Amino acid sequence: MKEISVQLAKRSYQIKIGNNLLINLGRELEAFNLSQKCLVVTNPLVFKLYGSQVQSSLQRAGFKTTIVLVDDGEQAKSLEWAARLYDAALRAELDRNSPIVALGGGVVGDLAGFVAATYMRGVPFIQVPTTLLAQVDSSVGGKVAINHPQGKNLIGAFHQPKLVLTDLNTLKSLPPRELRSGLAEVIKYGVIWDKDFFVYLESNIKEALNLNDAVLEFLIAKSCAIKAAIVEKDEQEKALRAILNFGHTFGHVYEALTNYNTYRHGEAVAMGMVEVTKFAYSRGLVTREFLTELKNVLTLAGLPLEPSSSFSSDKILDLMKHDKKNKKGKLQLILPLDFGKVVSQAVDLTEMKKYLQG
Ligand code: NAD
Ligand code: GLY
Repeated sequence: MKEISVQLAKRSYQIKIGNNLLINLGRELEAFNLSQKCLVVTNPLVFKLYGSQVQSSLQRAGFKTTIVLVDDGEQAKSLEWAARLYDAALRAELDRNSPIVALGGGVVGDLAGFVAATYMRGVPFIQVPTTLLAQVDSSVGGKVAINHPQGKNLIGAFHQPKLVLTDLNTLKSLPPRELRSGLAEVIKYGVIWDKDFFVYLESNIKEALNLNDAVLEFLIAKSCAIKAAIVEKDEQEKALRAILNFGHTFGHVYEALTNYNTYRHGEAVAMGMVEVTKFAYSRGLVTREFLTELKNVLTLAGLPLEPSSSFSSDKILDLMKHDKKNKKGKLQLILPLDFGKVVSQAVDLTEMKKYLQG
C-alpha cells in the first residue's frame, strides 16, 4: 500500500492506495471519532459491484449506514439530487459529526462532497473513488460542486475529505474507455509538473491499460503526490492551482458543445491539451517536437487528439467568454513551455478569434 499525505494544517489528510482496501473502510474511520450514523452515496452500478463490501465493513466497525443511490451520470450533480441527499441525511438523523461517504467516480464524489460541505455547515467527508479519474484527480484537493443549467460546477465549495481510500481492485471492473479517460489527467500531471513522470508514462502507459497493479499504484500515487503538492501551496486557487486546468478551457468547450454526452471528461481534456499546445506553438512558446511527443503519448493511451466534428469559432469563443478563470475580460490559459513547465498567460479574445479562424 502507498500513502500520500496532503498537508493543510487542521484539514490535513491521508490518501491510501492499494489492493483490497474497501474491506478496511470501517476500521480506517475508527481513528476519526465519528458519530455512528453514516450516509453512503453511490449509484446503482457501483453499489452492485462494491456496495456490500463497503456496507459490511462499516457495519463491522459499528456504523449505522444509510445508502443513497443517485442516478448514474453527470445529471446527478444537480440541486435536485443534493436536496434528496439532505432529506436522506435528515431522515437518518445525521448530526454534525456524522460522515458522508462517496463511493464512486467523480460525479458521486462531487455531489456527495457538496452535500457534506453544506449539510449542517459541513460534516466529515470520506472519498472512496472507484474510477481512475476520481482516484488521480477529483477525490483529492477538496473541490466539490454541482452543476447549474448555465454551466458545469457553477455551485460549489472547497471541502477537504478526512480520508481518501483508493482500492485498486475497483479498476478491474472499469470500462476501458473510463480507464483511458483517467489517463488523460495522469498525462496532464507529467506535462505541468514532472518531466521524468512524463517519460515514465511514455514507456508504461500500455501496462496501465493492461491493468498492471504495480504501474497503476505508482501512477496513481505519483498523480496524487503532484496534486497534493500544488493544493498545499494554493488550496483555494488564488494562482498556482490553476495549472491543474491545463487543457481544460478547450476541454470544457468541447464538452459543452456536445451537450456533455459525447466525450468523457478525460477525452475532452486530452483534445484540449493538444489544442492549447497548438496555441502555445502559435505564440512561439513550445517546439513542434513537444506537440508531437504529447500527441504520441495521448495516442498510446488511446485518447482522441481532436474533436470528430469541427465547431464554429464564434461558438467556441462564446463559451470561452464564460470560463470561471477569466480575468478582466481576458482568457487565462495555462500554456506549456516544456515538459514539467507551464505558465498562465492572459489572452485577448481578439487574439483567440484570429487563432481559431486562422
Ligand atoms: P463518473 O463518476 O460518471 O464515472 C464514470 C462511469 O463509471 C459511471 O458510469 C460510473 O457509474 C462508472 N463506474 C464508477 N466506478 C466504476 C467501477 N469501479 N467499475 C465500473 N464502473 C464504474 O465519471 P468520472 O470520470 O469518474 O468523473 C467525472 C466527474 O468528475 C465530472 O463531473 C467532473 O466535473 C468531475 N471532476 C471533478 C474534479 C474535482 O476536482 N472535484 C476534477 C476532475 C473531474
Ligand atoms: N481539477 C482541478 C482542481 O482540483 O483544481
